[in-house]
Amino acid sequence: MAKTALITGITGQDASYLAEFLLNKGYKVFGTTRRSSTVNNERIKHIEDKIEILSADLLDSSSLVAAVRESQPDEVYNLAAQSFVKTSWDQPVLTGEFTGIGVTRMLEAVRTVKPDAKFYQASSSEMFGKVVEVPQTETTRFYPRSPYGVAKVYGHYITLNYRESFNMFACSGILFNHESPRRGLEFVTRKISNAVAKISLGKQDKLELGNLDAKRDWGFAGDYVEAMWMMLQHDTPDDYVVATGETHSVQEFVELSFKTVGIEDWQKYVVSNHPKHLRPAEVDHLIGDYSKAKSVLGWEPKTSFPQLVEMMVKADVELEKSR
Ligand code: NAP
Ligand code: GDD
Repeated sequence: MAKTALITGITGQDASYLAEFLLNKGYKVFGTTRRSSTVNNERIKHIEDKIEILSADLLDSSSLVAAVRESQPDEVYNLAAQSFVKTSWDQPVLTGEFTGIGVTRMLEAVRTVKPDAKFYQASSSEMFGKVVEVPQTETTRFYPRSPYGVAKVYGHYITLNYRESFNMFACSGILFNHESPRRGLEFVTRKISNAVAKISLGKQDKLELGNLDAKRDWGFAGDYVEAMWMMLQHDTPDDYVVATGETHSVQEFVELSFKTVGIEDWQKYVVSNHPKHLRPAEVDHLIGDYSKAKSVLGWEPKTSFPQLVEMMVKADVELEKSR
């Protein structure tokens, strides 16, 4: 019989790729959205008739319980969160409520209604923050550097706690940054790819950025959702780092993006260290060791850094041409 999955935050980047992936595997897919005054389904428009949308908010336990009751899922992917690190300093309490306590609300909904459902929690490399070890593994001590990172540490440990307390099949994927043409425009990669596309088409003059020296382990979201699914297919629940094992600076992303559209003198267009885009505390250097995911799950990234940059810039050039 076909399996059923419930994905929270179905309008988000990862959920759109995961929903496609699960539909291809024959799953019945339910996804939750929260109420908004404008339609917000850009990323799932192409699959909307194949999935069931339920209304639920991470602040509202009864809506989460109802979503689990209605969908009766075999697998729950808790992807909903306030996911933008910079905003977490402007809205630290709300970020704690959504990204931290929201995980407990979701776990409670599952424990109450469908305790045998397998549960995936979207943990983050932002938990490593001011890193104490290079590269970072499942055993590296957390040192979060933002209200978002702190909330994710809570979400991570409450997932582990429900696994140990209630014997739930609950896994945390410690995912390093993953991007795509569907990435939100506020994140640095998409901000760059979109601005470079516009600059190449004469629609924008300048690209204002913050810290160009920050280094991230960037992968492709389409590759990473497979790792989420693999965690829930394994015999035992556990936590896994999902990464590429390579790190690159924001500046490298900028240079390669401009190169993709044939512009070598990128400095002409870029303003760096713009105060609006600097953070009260920075995460300088992330690089993940995914050897556990490789040896236990058989997962490996498929998309290289240059392929990712090219994919994003070319998609934005096409998008901006059509506007
Ligand atoms: P995203 O594009 O920002 O999507 C987040 C989703 O959560 C959206 O559907 C959003 O709905 C929903 N949401 C926000 N607040 C909510 C609330 N109070 N109630 C219900 N839904 C709410 O994020 P993403 O990049 O796909 O990431 C997915 C998950 O992985 C997040 O938990 C993120 O923190 C985590 N993560 C991401 C990365 C990465 O590099 N992408 C790395 C590690 C971990 P709206 O569309 O209505 O805003
Ligand atoms: N957003 C943004 N905008 N970031 C900038 C800019 C800018 O103009 N200029 C420099 N940066 C730097 C940030 O200071 C940061 O060091 C780096 O670019 C990446 O920023 P983001 O793309 O906003 O991502 P993030 O690393 O803070 O967080 C993302 O990855 C986490 C996993 O490590 C998000 O997807 C989180 O949800 C995720 O958990």
